[in-house]
Amino acid sequence: MSPNDNSKSSNAHWGGRFTGGPADIMEKINASIAFDRRLFLQDIAGSRAHADMLVAQDILTPEDGKAINEGLELISQEILAGNFSFSEKLEDIHMNIESRLKELIGEPAGRLHTARSRNDQVATDFRLWVRDSLDDIDKLLCKLQSVLIDNSEKYADLIMPGYTHLQTAQPITFGHHLLSYVEMFGRDRGRFSDCRKRLNESPLGAGALAGTTYPIDRQHTAKSLGFDRPMVNSLDAVSDRDFALEFLSSAAITMTHISRFSEEIILWCSDSFGFIELSDSFTTGSSMMPQKRNPDAAELSRAKSGRVFGNLMTLLSVMKALPLAYSKDMQEDKEPVFDSMDSLLLSLNAIIGMVDDLKPIPEAMYMAAQKGYPTATDLADWLVTSVGLPFREAHKVTGKIVKAAYDKNLSLEDFPLTEMQSIDRRITDDVISVLSIESSISRRTSEGGTAPENVLASAAIARKRYL
Ligand code: ARG
Repeated sequence: MSPNDNSKSSNAHWGGRFTGGPADIMEKINASIAFDRRLFLQDIAGSRAHADMLVAQDILTPEDGKAINEGLELISQEILAGNFSFSEKLEDIHMNIESRLKELIGEPAGRLHTARSRNDQVATDFRLWVRDSLDDIDKLLCKLQSVLIDNSEKYADLIMPGYTHLQTAQPITFGHHLLSYVEMFGRDRGRFSDCRKRLNESPLGAGALAGTTYPIDRQHTAKSLGFDRPMVNSLDAVSDRDFALEFLSSAAITMTHISRFSEEIILWCSDSFGFIELSDSFTTGSSMMPQKRNPDAAELSRAKSGRVFGNLMTLLSVMKALPLAYSKDMQEDKEPVFDSMDSLLLSLNAIIGMVDDLKPIPEAMYMAAQKGYPTATDLADWLVTSVGLPFREAHKVTGKIVKAAYDKNLSLEDFPLTEMQSIDRRITDDVISVLSIESSISRRTSEGGTAPENVLASAAIARKRYL
């Protein structure tokens, strides 16, 4: 058959003015059923709301409405049971369902599409799908915050090195570190919830682009589908995909958090750090090196961020030069969103599992926290508060002390007081009390600081705020 063969019959849903059928390649590039079948529940819900409204407005008879509803219920059961046969010839989920409805109930099926276009239909279905997904994501993010908060309380005073530039900076507690992610995921929830608020308007009733001449009631369908209100402008209603872009950009930011956390888990379980252990449940072996325990779930969660960033770029590129209103380009909106949702759910579940599973190795964290002069800032602060030096000068004096201690391969705590005094004679033995990492931590009680008492208080506040 040549690629331009049109000997087939025309499409039953829109082929009135056609004499021939589409070329194979036309059918292939046009079909979205392979992926948009995921919208079936939303499509059926949208059709039911539309049919009920048509009946309430005397556009359809109650008998037709009843037959449509019963047929759609049957179709929903068939799809859920895996007994529905999807056809590429019928392009998409909307026409697959309508065709089956025709087989089941006959003529009334043909009245369902009164005062509706696939343009407002797909916009409605997709909004409903993204809305359901946002609710699932929120539940998972909340669960993740919950395991993080539990662990932050458990490890409120577990000392570890804090880094900047991945160089030892100041000691912190593991609980404090975990709570920083509670905040990030809290902001993520805020972004998804903003997206949900803006998304929750109904495109249904916009028709193909210009509205309809039938006396429809858009408030009715908006209400029955749980939307806050109908979208104001019919052109905007069928051509807007901001909600998908907002979903993708929020998902991309969440994936950066997941990826950073994954990266830290990978570092922490490396032999060089050895700060935590993951159990057999969250590690894999190597086929060659028998000693290996690899943190594959963390690596894959880190990597999946790339797909989600790419998906955001895909949809931005699809949308950026489309004239109003609907163009078939917009059929390409679904796969990036579906793939991002799948990646996000997998990664979130994996991170929740790993946070629950990980076991800190306190000795290793403590040993690492002692390296690299982590209490140098405490010494400088002591010179400010106890000797009265300006901070810049205190910084300079401390730098000299650190260098002298480093040259002798000694920690600040082990560096003799007399030697410190030979660098600055105003130093007294009172300084010793601020040089240990324990004191460094317990004295950092400023709002949002790492002191264990702060961590416990912050965990309690987070529990109230987020869970
Ligand atoms: N499958 C289509 C999509 O996802 C449905 C809308 C088709 N509309 C049209 N005018 N051809 O965008």
